[in-house]
Amino acid sequence: MKTLLVYYSRTGNTRDVASKIAGEMECDVEEIRDTQKRSGIIGTLKSLYQALRETDTVLEPYSRDPADYDLVIIGTPVWAGKPSVPVSTYLKENRSKIKKAAFFCTYGGTGEEGTFRRMAEILESEPLQTMAITEKEMKEGTCDCKIEPFVRELTS
Ligand SMILES: Cc1cc2nc3c(=O)[nH]c(=O)nc-3n(C[C@H](O)[C@H](O)[C@H](O)COP(=O)(O)O)c2cc1C
Repeated sequence: MKTLLVYYSRTGNTRDVASKIAGEMECDVEEIRDTQKRSGIIGTLKSLYQALRETDTVLEPYSRDPADYDLVIIGTPVWAGKPSVPVSTYLKENRSKIKKAAFFCTYGGTGEEGTFRRMAEILESEPLQTMAITEKEMKEGTCDCKIEPFVRELTS
């Protein structure tokens, strides 16, 4: 299966997980970049507010066309129990082009189910697999035991 791994990361956690997945399987990788500044306390509060209101954003142009892939793996941080605003915008812009999807998220410890549910609602299809990794699992280095089966299921 030709696979595209797409992710957004504000502070690096989701990027780290995406790198680990990309190290375990053959895939093209696209990092979603937002035109809005989201750093610092103002950026955090803006992101929280927009996630709660499900506001869309303007993304920087992306180079890969998801229509060219059999499977698109989409990674997001959890924001207010929902997908991050750049990822929900990406999904809305590309829903008709994504044939099969798998989702992963990084998060503090709550809201992963609502995040995956909302992503599936936007795509109007259920993912093949989901994986949620907490900040604690990342710090303790125990996330590999989730990443390996996630990749195995998708590649078998
Ligand atoms: C605006 C905002 C809202 C967040 N909301 C949640 C939340 O509802 N539940 C949770 O467990 N973590 C929440 N977090 C924590 C992030 O999901 C977590 O730190 C994630 O790993 C960050 O990923 P990143 O480094 O790729 O940006 C939130 C963080 C931000 C900035």
